[in-house]
Amino acid sequence: MNILGLSCYYHDSSAVLLKDGKIVAASDEERFSRIKHDSSFPENAIEFCLNYTNITSKDLDYVVFHEKPFIKFERIIKSVLVTYPKSAKLFSDLSKNWLKEKLWIKLKISEFLNIPEDRILFSKHHLSHAASSFFCSPFKEAAFLTIDGVGEWATTTLGVGKSNFEEDNKNNLTILKTIDFPHSIGLLYSVFTAFLGFKVNNGEYKVMGMSAYGKPNYQDKIYKLIDLNKDGSFKLNMKYFSYHYSTKYSFNNNFIKLFGKPREKDQKFILNKNNEETISDIGMEDGKRFADIAASIQRVTEDALIKIANHLHAITNQDNLCLAGGVSLNCVANYKILKNTPFKNIYIQPAAGDSGAALGAALYVWHCLEKNRRRYILTDAYLGKKYTAEEIEKFLKENNINYKTYEKEAELFNYITDAIIEQKIVGYFRGKSEWGPRALGNRSILADPRNIKMKQVLNEKIKFRESFRPFAPSVLAEKADDFFDIKSISEKTPLQFMLYTVPVKKKELIPAVTHINGMSRIQIVNKNSNPSYYSLIENFYSKTSIPLLINTSLNLKGEPIANSPKDAYSIFKKSGLDILVLEDYVLEK
Ligand SMILES: [Fe+2]
Repeated sequence: MNILGLSCYYHDSSAVLLKDGKIVAASDEERFSRIKHDSSFPENAIEFCLNYTNITSKDLDYVVFHEKPFIKFERIIKSVLVTYPKSAKLFSDLSKNWLKEKLWIKLKISEFLNIPEDRILFSKHHLSHAASSFFCSPFKEAAFLTIDGVGEWATTTLGVGKSNFEEDNKNNLTILKTIDFPHSIGLLYSVFTAFLGFKVNNGEYKVMGMSAYGKPNYQDKIYKLIDLNKDGSFKLNMKYFSYHYSTKYSFNNNFIKLFGKPREKDQKFILNKNNEETISDIGMEDGKRFADIAASIQRVTEDALIKIANHLHAITNQDNLCLAGGVSLNCVANYKILKNTPFKNIYIQPAAGDSGAALGAALYVWHCLEKNRRRYILTDAYLGKKYTAEEIEKFLKENNINYKTYEKEAELFNYITDAIIEQKIVGYFRGKSEWGPRALGNRSILADPRNIKMKQVLNEKIKFRESFRPFAPSVLAEKADDFFDIKSISEKTPLQFMLYTVPVKKKELIPAVTHINGMSRIQIVNKNSNPSYYSLIENFYSKTSIPLLINTSLNLKGEPIANSPKDAYSIFKKSGLDILVLEDYVLEK
């Protein structure tokens, strides 16, 4: 049975193909369209999924959409009515948008794929999120917690998943509690993302990075915005917000009175005379305020998540927890949940945000509607497009690009690690692209983690990103414990998707991947899930005694991660990358 899951029209459109319950292809549309967080109908991602599995749309048993558009539209209309006339402009903008395309998604899918409408299904957004985590996890039973900006109505959902790997008809996702719009932890975090001068649904990571530089001195003020109960239930005080009636602004003057002037986009906030990453005491009061506000919203978010998760444990008595929704990409909070709740095991799949809802929608149909037994655990994220040697060679020859090749992989890895040791920066494009927002060694930029200046070099030559954002490492699974304090958590959760920040043990040896607060967002590399990448890091280890590399995504600022050799080559040409590896082909500057 072939089931196609789709997500689109909000942000991060995607398509996922499930064949007899196994994920065979998955990709965000942005990787093909080259538009960051592309929300349009995922034509290219669908085409990739069908071509990859050699099927046509006629072979699809179901196509399932990640949310229920009519319920979502009802929420929008009701919210508009409650806040009218302030919402008049919002109403006119939204109605155009919704009446033009969003409401008619069934027709759009039916026409695009040329399939009858009775094969098109809709799954509730938070059930899609829950299914994406639970049915990819190794657990027969688990509590689930899905937290995002908003789905149809729900912004937070607590429930229990039950299933069986041996029998059919045992699969079930039961929702126990929900918290509904406009009360939303995800939207609260996004409001601060906007206040701190970043793009919503894009800059939340930057708030997280910034938070390490501040002290959570603004918590009291944030608790004027959110009424958080002991059991984690919460209500926002809407007099500070405008996202429920405005398309342009998410906070209002009451909010500004409380927190001061918002940060301008690109306003510097932490640099001192020497461009060092310390909060300057030379007239950068705003910088300190912004860092403290970032630290405060991060802390309040963590406290809320811990309270909700503890309550979920109390009402379900489950040992296992599955997290999903955009808020589950907050890797600082994820570590706190691991450390401060009684759950013995936690699972998060790599595309925990809205693109992952397409995966969950498909899994929901396979397991809960079709009642098929579990037969799949998602253990790696390599589900996207791969290019063959022939395709790469053709591209290089057609464009008159000079290259060299190595007969043996070991020789190639020797060459790459020697270059990294010489402080060169390597674009590394091999195998299938990753599912989810993180590059995990197949569409990566690799560099030496021992050099304290490497962060600055990467920023100046390639990434052009804010100096306060940390770089992350890929580390050999067996050696990770020597460099990172993961003893108490490595048995509890898979660490291969870069979803947790953990304390660094040997900071002085790997300064380029140690954030100012001594933490690092690690990716554990297992020999089984990515043998080739594992061997490369092993080679670096044999020469340096350091079992890790800096791994940052192969993209330029504001662009999606490279998907094709053409994308990778364009990054190579435009940036200060010294070397580009395309499968076994090597390009040098
Ligand atoms: Fe969502």
